[in-house]
Amino acid sequence: EINNPVGFVNSNLGTLGKYMTNLFEVIKSYEAAEARVGGGVCPEVAEMKKKVDFGYLVEDIPSLLKESQDGLARVKRIVQDLKDFSHVDESNWQHANLEQGMDSTLNVVANEIKYKAKVVKEYAGIPDVECMPSQINQVFMNMLVNAAQAIEKDGTITVRSGISGDEVWVEVEDTGKGISPEHLNRIFDPFFTTKPVGKGTGLGLSLSYGIVQKHNGRIEVKSEVGKGSTFRVWLPVKHVAKE
Ligand SMILES: Nc1ncnc2c1ncn2[C@@H]1O[C@H](COP(=O)(O)OP(=O)(O)O)[C@@H](O)[C@H]1O
Ligand SMILES: [Mg+2]
Repeated sequence: EINNPVGFVNSNLGTLGKYMTNLFEVIKSYEAAEARVGGGVCPEVAEMKKKVDFGYLVEDIPSLLKESQDGLARVKRIVQDLKDFSHVDESNWQHANLEQGMDSTLNVVANEIKYKAKVVKEYAGIPDVECMPSQINQVFMNMLVNAAQAIEKDGTITVRSGISGDEVWVEVEDTGKGISPEHLNRIFDPFFTTKPVGKGTGLGLSLSYGIVQKHNGRIEVKSEVGKGSTFRVWLPVKHVAKE
């Protein structure tokens, strides 16, 4: 549970701030005492203060602490967003609006995308789908992160939806580097990744494949090296439990 460490780091930072204020008070009274007996009695101290740039240090510490606390507040906010996004009704079949699901997923990954690509939405206004929304959001998230990671810069990610018979589809198209034909039939394999360690686990598409299977749907991929890729998820509007 990440809220615990965030909580104690936050509380420690608060205490540290108070301790620093007290320490500075102690130093101030030393300085006052020194001034009373005539400055410069202690050249080593003066030398040391110069060496560590004491004046700047005193000024900078409070703003460092303030920045750290602001940063922690943001971490807290992000954790809460992620919880809202992923934990709701873990494995419940519900009627859900997939376009709204895509929108909230786009918000969650906004930071991953915003420096690399603009997002274009072409929604058809599809009907609600009987699905496990948090899991479908995971699928959307994997597609969006993959799209962003395929783009170096100045790209476009287009999200679309549509309906055909008793199935709907939602797709993510990117203007990224594309997938080579010899990789195309391996991308759904667990642990298949072309990304450096730390960037890719190779699990996103294999998990997505499993989730979509459970929904009796399918994922279609089109890709051209140097041009981009499109991942389209098809789902039946009504869930029919498998025997
Ligand atoms: N939109 C995309 N553009 C280019 N390559 C992609 C895209 N999506 C998936 N891939 C390829 O499929 C591989 C497997 O994807 P994934 O299962 O999500 O794992 P990971 O993203 O951790 O590598 C990626 O490493 C990449 O080579
Ligand atoms: Mg991935």
